Amino acid sequence: MNRAVYPGSFDPFTNGHLDITQRGATIFDELIVAVLINESKTSMFSVEERQMMAREAAVHIPNVRVLSFDGLLVDFMRKERSRVILRGLRALSDFEYEFQLAQMNKQLAPETETFFMVTDAKYSYLSSRGVKEVFQFGGAIHEFVPPGVFRRMRERVPPRGVR
Ligand code: PNS
Repeated sequence: MNRAVYPGSFDPFTNGHLDITQRGATIFDELIVAVLINESKTSMFSVEERQMMAREAAVHIPNVRVLSFDGLLVDFMRKERSRVILRGLRALSDFEYEFQLAQMNKQLAPETETFFMVTDAKYSYLSSRGVKEVFQFGGAIHEFVPPGVFRRMRERVPPRGVR
């Protein structure tokens, strides 16, 4: 079985993430969306919430599983018997960081291969950080995130402004 892992913080899962998940699921037999348990980072959502939101968004895709991981990605990959890391690339500005990540993972686990999928142009500006910032200042975010994420974000202390 050709199983790939799509890792990330997914804080929160955006329509751009969903697009990569959907397209990735057509390429690989199984796609594991792997949510990082980033204790040190200040996340808006807990890992359970981030996992739940990704799971809800991808519920219609039968060959997608949503799991969480901590520690090294390559250890998780070995545990899940996957050699392929899937990452979305929005712009050239993503590349340097992604290149480092891929090289580091290759160094740690030579059997891994990183596959980059170019983001659909309509999501090229979209990032979790941007969504949180727009939300924080009261901007409309419904077109950036799946409905379940939108609902959960609205349940958070809503800042002033229109949503
Ligand atoms: O969505 P993000 O925050 O850009 O995803 C980054 C992620 C989760 C892919 C990366 O931070 C990661 O793999 N972290 C786990 C720790 C690890 O394996 N580090 C070694 C590679 S530098």
